[in-house]
Amino acid sequence: MADSQQRCILVTGGAGFIGSHVVRHFVRKYPHYRIINVDQLTYAGNLENLADVQDAPNYCFVRGDVGDLETMRSLLREQKVDGIIHLAAESHVDRSICDPLLFARTNVMGTLNLLQAARECWSGQWEGRRFHHVSTDEVYGALEPGEAAFSETTPYSPHSPYSASKASSDHFVRAYHDTYGLPVVLTNCSNNYGPYQFPEKLIPLCIHNICEEKPLPIYGNGENVRDWLHVQDHAQAIDEVFHRGRDGESYNIGGGNEWRNIDIVRKLIRLVDEELGRPVGYSDRLITFVADRAGHDLRYAINAEKLRRELGWVPQRSFETGLRETVKWYMEHADWVRNVTSGAYERYYAEMYGDR
Ligand code: NAD
Ligand code: TYD
Repeated sequence: MADSQQRCILVTGGAGFIGSHVVRHFVRKYPHYRIINVDQLTYAGNLENLADVQDAPNYCFVRGDVGDLETMRSLLREQKVDGIIHLAAESHVDRSICDPLLFARTNVMGTLNLLQAARECWSGQWEGRRFHHVSTDEVYGALEPGEAAFSETTPYSPHSPYSASKASSDHFVRAYHDTYGLPVVLTNCSNNYGPYQFPEKLIPLCIHNICEEKPLPIYGNGENVRDWLHVQDHAQAIDEVFHRGRDGESYNIGGGNEWRNIDIVRKLIRLVDEELGRPVGYSDRLITFVADRAGHDLRYAINAEKLRRELGWVPQRSFETGLRETVKWYMEHADWVRNVTSGAYERYYAEMYGDR
């Protein structure tokens, strides 16, 4: 797919963490595209994340719910959308354990609505059209230490309501391709980190708590392993797959960068304490082992060889640099953190960690 032609791309969930980086990337890199960001602005959606592109002539925001089929239909028709990059989702595993139905509604039904709207609106005229579904490595389940990393052919085996809802949405995307011929691509990415991530996720939560000298809750024994990728490397990979990925294919995206949770937390302690001029090891005392997450997947690891081989994508940022920059970003954006951690988030936090 040429990236020189004019296009109208609908990004769903563009006010969230990864979505805001994808919107910024496309708005800046492709001034001849119109980028429409549709987002319901749940607790995780924040237009402040896009303050630097909100006045760009090729960008607009529409508040809307992917659960509302009629709104999705009209958006696609009226705006003559020819590309969809679908990120809108409930994204936090712990919340999915508390409210699985919400995850089915947004992640499964929301995706199905968008697929149906695209199918109706594009009605067999597939040329130049594309539905890019953004998914997660968590659909593959959990690995034992030493087991080979997930590839695109690893069977799906989700364990949490979150990963089950994402797996289900992936199946619907493939079903629309195989049954109706809808032009789709899928990406399954590992854990992202970087600016604008809501501080309910491990890395921003710990940066915030180290700064505030609050306990750092480590689930279980801290031995669980995740593969971490900088969010801007993810946005670049989405760009490559959206434009040049093969129709109907899935691509794994990952950092080749596995860390145990406890080691990440120790790394964050070192970086934050250094920034604040505190003595070495000052915040070690904040490490607090708490009850494990139910159904906690032991290890995720991604084999991103297909993406490298076919599209030449490799991550650009080293973890050391990316994490240091991320720590600095959170410390320099205390207002952003304060805004998103007030009100509803505070209540959620008390519920989640109060008795733990
Ligand atoms: P996020 O929770 O930060 O953002 C989700 C966004 O979707 C928010 O802006 C929210 O307002 C919006 N949204 C939620 N429900 C909606 C609805 N019904 N209609 C419209 N908008 C709605 O999530 P994120 O971490 O940026 O993840 C984005 C996507 O990437 C998700 O699909 C997630 O499954 C996937 N993903 C995330 C990671 C990760 O590490 N964060 C890794 C791999 C894949
Ligand atoms: P998280 O950032 O929630 O991402 P995911 O569950 O999608 O991988 O969690 C990353 C890892 O950190 C995961 O193994 C759970 C663990 N974790 C904690 O130990 N403490 C916490 O407070 C949080 C939020 C996560």
